[in-house]
Amino acid sequence: MYANPATAPSRNAVTVPQLHARKRAGEKIVMVTAYDASFAAAVDAAGIDVVLVGDSLGMVVQGESSTLPVTLDHMVYHSAAVARGLHTALLIADLPFMSYATREQAYASAARLIGEGRAAMVKLEGAGWAGDVIHALSERDIPVCAHLGLTPQSVHKLGGYRVQGRDEDRAERLFQDARSVAAAGADLLVLECVPSALAERITAELAIPTIGIGAGPHCDGQVLVMYDLLGLTPGKRPRFSKNFLAGHDSIQAALHAYADAVRSGVFPAPEHSY
Ligand code: KIV
Repeated sequence: MYANPATAPSRNAVTVPQLHARKRAGEKIVMVTAYDASFAAAVDAAGIDVVLVGDSLGMVVQGESSTLPVTLDHMVYHSAAVARGLHTALLIADLPFMSYATREQAYASAARLIGEGRAAMVKLEGAGWAGDVIHALSERDIPVCAHLGLTPQSVHKLGGYRVQGRDEDRAERLFQDARSVAAAGADLLVLECVPSALAERITAELAIPTIGIGAGPHCDGQVLVMYDLLGLTPGKRPRFSKNFLAGHDSIQAALHAYADAVRSGVFPAPEHSY
């Protein structure tokens, strides 16, 4: 079959089955967000495994106070830009707020992120009703990354950006949610701002890899927002992030330092965890 070498996946491209194999082998997965081709190319050159075009772009690129104003058109635009910078890393794109409220919407939105945005996997927030959507997409061979814990698209319901699953009842609910999204067919699970002990329990229970952000050192991988990693966060640094540009003289060196720190288990340290 003819494949255009400019757009065909490279022979070394990271795949979904490889991420599952990494978990089984106990090898950490490194993920970071990117929103344009230049940063994507830098991430790829640093040997980072997965690039997430997060709807965090609403906050760090567009200057909004939440991810809620981000549209599917925005996500498709940024995902396609990132895809042009990548050869090796696996590309995940976020399904934005209310773009997957029904199965039909989810099919149409995921088709755009994969077809036009060139993503290999889509990410969505929540369990329960979202489990139904995960099942529907994965049945059609669309890889899905679930996202639990602090789910920014629920900021109004949660009442702010804070650690989730701190008390016993909520921790148990989150644990059961994690089991349910995995059973629904998710290929990956992002755990955001949950206590380390809970993330450790979930990671031990699930066959799919967990990727933590503010979820302690026991997850199968870590993700950071690029701008946090480069120390560009305005105001107080979130506890879970680290400025990897400090002590390095280039973005490339900072990305290498982040990847090394995750792979060697040095990051996140207890001071980055809850
Ligand atoms: O949108 C995003 O960047 C994310 C990460 C924080 C995991 O969802």
